[in-house]
Amino acid sequence: SDLGKGAYPYYMIKEIDEQPAVLRRLIQTYQDQNGQFVVDDNLKAALQNSDRLYIVACGTSYHAGWVGKNLFEKQINIPTEIHLASEFAYNPPLMSEKPFFIFLSQSGETADSRQALVLVNQLGHPSLTITNVKGSTLSREATYTLLLHAGPEIAVASTKAYTAQITVMAILAAAVGQTQQHGLDLAHELSIAATNMETILAEKDQIKAWVDENLLETPNAFYIGRFLDYYVSMEAALKLKEISYIQTEAFASGELKHGTIALIEEGTPVIAIISQAKVDKHTRGNLEEVKARGAKTCVIATQDFAQPGDQFVLPKTHALLTPLVIAVMVQLIAYYTSLGKGLDVDKPRNLAKSVTVE
Ligand code: G6P
Repeated sequence: SDLGKGAYPYYMIKEIDEQPAVLRRLIQTYQDQNGQFVVDDNLKAALQNSDRLYIVACGTSYHAGWVGKNLFEKQINIPTEIHLASEFAYNPPLMSEKPFFIFLSQSGETADSRQALVLVNQLGHPSLTITNVKGSTLSREATYTLLLHAGPEIAVASTKAYTAQITVMAILAAAVGQTQQHGLDLAHELSIAATNMETILAEKDQIKAWVDENLLETPNAFYIGRFLDYYVSMEAALKLKEISYIQTEAFASGELKHGTIALIEEGTPVIAIISQAKVDKHTRGNLEEVKARGAKTCVIATQDFAQPGDQFVLPKTHALLTPLVIAVMVQLIAYYTSLGKGLDVDKPRNLAKSVTVE
């Protein structure tokens, strides 16, 4: 059942495991009888009428927003901005003529996000909340709601909500863009992603073994990547620091040379994510640079960009959707690090599942 851990030692690992099923549930839930993705007609029209989308979120939801920005821009050609909710409310961005706001919030209760929505409502702009909780505050106060259908997420570190948010944004873009032809069979590509998640979930032992050998003793670590691989790196780093207390940062790998590389010491773990054409070779180059300075490197690559010696090769996934699959991998890295250090995986110190103060 959705409640209770069953045979699992922690909710987090149960929730990581649930992701392929959540993805498949979303494909079914948002498809009509003809296999087309559909959303409410008014929501569809509101997006089609908009000249700019503004995604507003915090934490893991904010990281999902970056992936969503790329989906909206590539699939429906609407410029999309992404904002931290805590920055937005007191210093709102310059807005376009016909803005449309998308609030991403697992809980639908985050005070920072709500504060931004209050402002958007005062200004009279249309909005959508994408949330896991039906009837939540952000859902009630926004013009439209789409649900994540992920089932309750109990572990403080968010996992299935992230992949569900990305999936729902992909579906929304598909539903809005239906009149145009994009050559992307989203239902098909999403079901491949679900299968690929299962492949990774079947290799937990290998991931745990790597973690046990490389991460349990380190005070710090880095994730690097470019473009979507950078966006998912941000989430990877957040996951690891939240539950393992290892100081982990994500860097757009091209920025390393502009400062960050000074932090690399003998044995510093640097994990590179490589799943995107055009930037894969550049990230490899950056990896060589940190290796030359003593870093202990690890590559997570999708099949089409893998090279001999890569530690983890993930199955081929549509280029727009690789974060769905890579997320599972990096969630497992964080999980096994926390577990290996004997920490309380589900209830990390100083953190709350839902933050209802600004
Ligand atoms: C808290 C949680 C994070 C979460 C963030 C946003 O800080 O610990 O895991 O990503 O809130 O939550 P929301 O419910 O708005 O997605």
